[in-house]
Amino acid sequence: MKVDVLLGLQWGDEGKGKVVDVLTPRYDAVARFQGGPNAGHTLEFEGKKYVLRSIPSGIFQHGQINIIGNGVVLDPVLFAEEARALEASGVDLKKVLKISRKAHLILPTHRLLDAANERAKGGAKIGTTGKGIGPTYTDKVSRNGLRLGDIDLDFDTRYAAARDRHLRQLEQMGDAADMEALRQAEVKFMEAIDYIRGYEIVDSEWLINDLLTQGKSVLCEGAQGTMLDVDFGSYPFVTSSNTVCAGACSGLGVAPNRIGDVFGIFKAYCTRVGSGPFPTELHDETGKRIRDLGHEYGAVTGRERRCGWIDLVALRYAIMINGVTKLIMMKSDVLDDFDTIKACVGYEIDGKVTDRFPYSIDDEAAIKPVYEELPGWKTDMTKMRSEQEFPQEFSDYLAFLECKLGVPIAIVSIGPDREQTILR
Ligand code: GDP
Ligand code: IMO
Ligand code: MG
Repeated sequence: MKVDVLLGLQWGDEGKGKVVDVLTPRYDAVARFQGGPNAGHTLEFEGKKYVLRSIPSGIFQHGQINIIGNGVVLDPVLFAEEARALEASGVDLKKVLKISRKAHLILPTHRLLDAANERAKGGAKIGTTGKGIGPTYTDKVSRNGLRLGDIDLDFDTRYAAARDRHLRQLEQMGDAADMEALRQAEVKFMEAIDYIRGYEIVDSEWLINDLLTQGKSVLCEGAQGTMLDVDFGSYPFVTSSNTVCAGACSGLGVAPNRIGDVFGIFKAYCTRVGSGPFPTELHDETGKRIRDLGHEYGAVTGRERRCGWIDLVALRYAIMINGVTKLIMMKSDVLDDFDTIKACVGYEIDGKVTDRFPYSIDDEAAIKPVYEELPGWKTDMTKMRSEQEFPQEFSDYLAFLECKLGVPIAIVSIGPDREQTILR
């Protein structure tokens, strides 16, 4: 058996949570492979809305195993908060969720370092989610991290050593910690570690490979998006993990030849939270209109998302890097009332037009997006249930995108609810 991977092709918040929930009934297991509580994955069904941060979006369907893989960084306190809320709403989480003992832990001082790093960068700050993601992955790669499996191995001593190292780093940065606040955070941290002991902590690479050997199917759920990938995104304005398909191999222990379908998910337009370049960003009324109609505010931080037209140069690059086999287009309903819709088909740089995503897009003034303008469909599509109901202009828009991107669009989402999903 193969594993399928679903991941974001833009700057995150494409709607991954919604689609993972929709696709889950086809699979035996759902697994997160990178990122941490910087993610906010929204699901809506039966009039209720849930935002998941570290827990896979497969938990609301029935019978699947959900796995937090080794590539994820776990904040015990935020995890406990999220998990307890789900338990209170009736999800039997301890039964369906398994967590890798190789997942790295986000410590209270990682969050302090995240904030200190941002302050030190001043005007060049990344605009991180402040969840300690960067410092935790830094410790992982520099071989200083603490893993979930360490909680049974002289944990207090190891924890204290890591904390003291972080405090020294903070002091060197001129950002000494508030020790009383830290002490309180540590009490909550240790309490949350105890709560996690109630979950099955596993060797998730064995679990997943055993499932595959038994003929079971697995869906891997990405977080963030390809343009936030630490290698291929708009570096340094990226997150600290590999959000691309290869991240599913290293973040779960799945061999590359086990990868089956790669679902690449994108919005009918484009958004970005935090700082960093965004060639098709709209600073005008149209950008504001997209933000209002699409409710483009962060699921976790509530931050305003920057909005712009769809960028096919970046999308083609993302499709290549990930080996996307099927596309999923989200939030087309947000454009239901537009007279015309623009799509960026090239970048004009120094008078030359290219459709190749360049090394750097930092100098936004030097990149002029080249647009094609298409007629809008001017139809409320939110209650449609099959592609036969699509207006002609919308079908033409899909055909245009498929032609430019070279991959079929298999799913179209026309609203936030589980039911507002059309499989083609
Ligand atoms: P994720 O991080 O990729 O899971 O995406 P988020 O949950 O952060 O952001 C997607 C937002 O769009 C959420 O508020 C969803 O409820 C909402 N959403 C998802 N699909 C659609 C859609 O097709 N139409 C509209 N209008 N909203 C959608
Ligand atoms: P989901 O999974 C959108 C952005 C932050 C910042 C940069 C680095 O919901 O799509 P970090 O805290 O990771 O060090 O921040 O990445 N970012 C996201 N943007 N959606 C996300 O997740 C994001 N996770 C991180 O805004 O620009
Ligand atoms: Mg999100």
